[in-house]
Amino acid sequence: MSNIAELFQAHYGKAPVAVGSAPGRLEILGNHTDYNEGFTLSAAVGQVTEFAIVPVPGRKCRLKDFRDGSQVEFDLDNIDKPTPKDWSNYVKGVIVELRKRGIEVGAFDGGILSTVPLSAGMSSSAALEVSAGFAFAAVFDIKLSPVEWAKVGQGVENNYMGLKSGLLDQFSSIYGKADALILSDFRTNEVLKNVALPHGYMIVVANSMVKHNLVDSEYNDRRHSCERVAAAMHNIDPKIKTLRDVSSQMLNDNKHCVDHSDYLKAMHVIGEDERVFKAVELLEKGDIKGFGQLLFASHESSKNNFANSCQELDCLVELATSIPGCLGARLSGGGFGGISIHLVEAARADEYCRRLKEAYKLQTGKETETIECSIGDGASVVKL
Ligand code: GLA
Repeated sequence: MSNIAELFQAHYGKAPVAVGSAPGRLEILGNHTDYNEGFTLSAAVGQVTEFAIVPVPGRKCRLKDFRDGSQVEFDLDNIDKPTPKDWSNYVKGVIVELRKRGIEVGAFDGGILSTVPLSAGMSSSAALEVSAGFAFAAVFDIKLSPVEWAKVGQGVENNYMGLKSGLLDQFSSIYGKADALILSDFRTNEVLKNVALPHGYMIVVANSMVKHNLVDSEYNDRRHSCERVAAAMHNIDPKIKTLRDVSSQMLNDNKHCVDHSDYLKAMHVIGEDERVFKAVELLEKGDIKGFGQLLFASHESSKNNFANSCQELDCLVELATSIPGCLGARLSGGGFGGISIHLVEAARADEYCRRLKEAYKLQTGKETETIECSIGDGASVVKL
């Protein structure tokens, strides 16, 4: 915190009046279930994005990214559309989403400092949206519920950026709890419970370094597949609204009603919902090995059913089966590149990361970045 305040002071010659802070997130289980009104196990990480702010008169906003030194300026009357390849879109989008709710954000000088890796499946964009939103809330006296803030961030992705993502990223960034996984229900949009990760284990992130650009990816196609299957099942039973209401038994019984590729996609989502509940049961019983096996099963299903893995991610997960100290691994987040998560004995994490990097290099000729993640609290804001 003091760091961003100092950087802000040095750059603008004045102190910030508030700093919003929002973490990145890890999807632990429940891949592509959120927009199907399903369930997820997720966590907020220790890596955060901070957004420092001072309101200024007029309509011009200035934004400095202290990580790479880049600076953007925009006029509040000229932000209806995003500008190509501009990180400030995630901030402008928040202002546009708030306007739709009848809320005006005034002009400001802003500064950003982030330790959330970019384009890596840890939701750096959600962390930016939420940290900006919380900073705006403090200085422009905006009162929205935490769920509504998550929806503002989701609105930025859906409406401003054109990615039809669910609520998982912003929701986890807001509701995260230190040292716990959160079990969320995306029909009621609530946290059902916090589930502690047993002492002595941690999540290691291994980045495939395959840069995914979800906006251009097959993400929206996957969503359409899920919606087609839900619509077909609705024709059979009108009580069915989304894949959340469909069991694997029902889908199998009515397999002939849907395209085979859509069937596989839906099987993945339904299987993930089932694995989320199984995972909670196993964790509560202290069966960490069983929990790890569910991570491997999730990855198999991503690879074979949902087709959102890639060679690099498959290699990282395959290596996890043979390097000592790891209990389970899977791709995490949208997929098509990005990160894998590895459930690792904390005492062996350093050694595990070293061996994983070496083996990955040997097999693919490529580098992987690993991060030993702590699980942190959700977003907050401080008035200075
Ligand atoms: C991305 C999206 C989320 C979620 C995951 C997959 O992170 O932003 O809403 O759909 O992919 O589970």
